[in-house]
Amino acid sequence: MTALFEPKKVKDFLFKNRIIMPPMVSEKATEQGQVTDKNVEYYLDRAKEGLAGVIVEPAFISENGRCSRHQLSAADDDKVEGLSRLASSIKNTGAVAILQLNHGGAKAYSKDKSELLSPSGVLAPNVTQEVTPRQMTLGEIAQVKADFIKATERAMEAGFDGVEIHGAHGFLLNQFNSPLTNFRQDKYGGSRKNRARLSLEVASDLKEVVGNKLLLYRLGATDGYDKGLTMPDAIWIAKELVRNGVDIIDVSGGHGGYRGHTRSQGYFVPIAVEIKQNLTQPVMVAGGISSPQYANEVIEEEGLDFVGVGRALLSRPDWPYMAKQELINRK
Ligand SMILES: Cc1cc2nc3c(=O)[nH]c(=O)nc-3n(C[C@H](O)[C@H](O)[C@H](O)COP(=O)(O)O)c2cc1C
Repeated sequence: MTALFEPKKVKDFLFKNRIIMPPMVSEKATEQGQVTDKNVEYYLDRAKEGLAGVIVEPAFISENGRCSRHQLSAADDDKVEGLSRLASSIKNTGAVAILQLNHGGAKAYSKDKSELLSPSGVLAPNVTQEVTPRQMTLGEIAQVKADFIKATERAMEAGFDGVEIHGAHGFLLNQFNSPLTNFRQDKYGGSRKNRARLSLEVASDLKEVVGNKLLLYRLGATDGYDKGLTMPDAIWIAKELVRNGVDIIDVSGGHGGYRGHTRSQGYFVPIAVEIKQNLTQPVMVAGGISSPQYANEVIEEEGLDFVGVGRALLSRPDWPYMAKQELINRK
């Protein structure tokens, strides 16, 4: 069997191969953030083709952290029923079902821009808006932690196998982690340890909620801007996240987003490999992976644990099936 199709156990969960659908907003929820039949069909169409896992697109944890009009919500108890339909249809295919949770912070979609929350009242480097966000109070930081906990409880009640904390692509937790957007002078800003404090506290809180289920963290490992997060920062944060209960580190970009600076396949692979060399926990990477042979190399030669296949899976829902045929025929 090729490495890409070797099963892997993480805690009690058996991933039948190494291919995971990474979170991608699909704008199929109602304006209230309820799961629709379109959401269910979209994931089922892909999961049934042999994916090992699906990280469902981000649900917002509170209305002020919402990022788009038709985003999924995990902010109220009345969302549990719809989320449960989504989780069970994915799990019925044999795929592990994870829900990504997010707060948009300064990048949230808010009618009242003065209500945009951020660590230090500064815009993310690549965002242009007329109104700058405001600096969060300690009370608002505590509220975000409480909202992550409630949203995770709802995801667990809905039957998801785990949750992924969104700490990438310039959203709230990335804004805290990054020296480009965090100039706070209290315990949540300044040193690397202080900047990462909110992420680490959220991880340790959510660990308590998920128990034997899975906790993933999507790490914006590099901002792609001068004076942004460095490689030593990313390695340090990844290690601390694991110490605080994260089971899988999912490597992606920071303020610079998910696209990377090159068009080559696997543009975040070198960074993910460096992180993996410093960890014992599994590491996943996404970013431009489209050929089965290359995906297999990422597992077999680079030693990473999971590949995220996003855009290729949008254009070809049967990507895992196609990959298996291609790799088998090559042997
Ligand atoms: C339409 C679209 C929406 C996305 N939305 C999210 C998101 O909400 N959260 C997230 O962590 N990543 C998001 N991503 C990034 C993907 O998860 C993935 O990391 C990225 O597309 C690179 O992988 P790929 O080249 O295989 O597509 C999105 C990507 C696309 C194309």
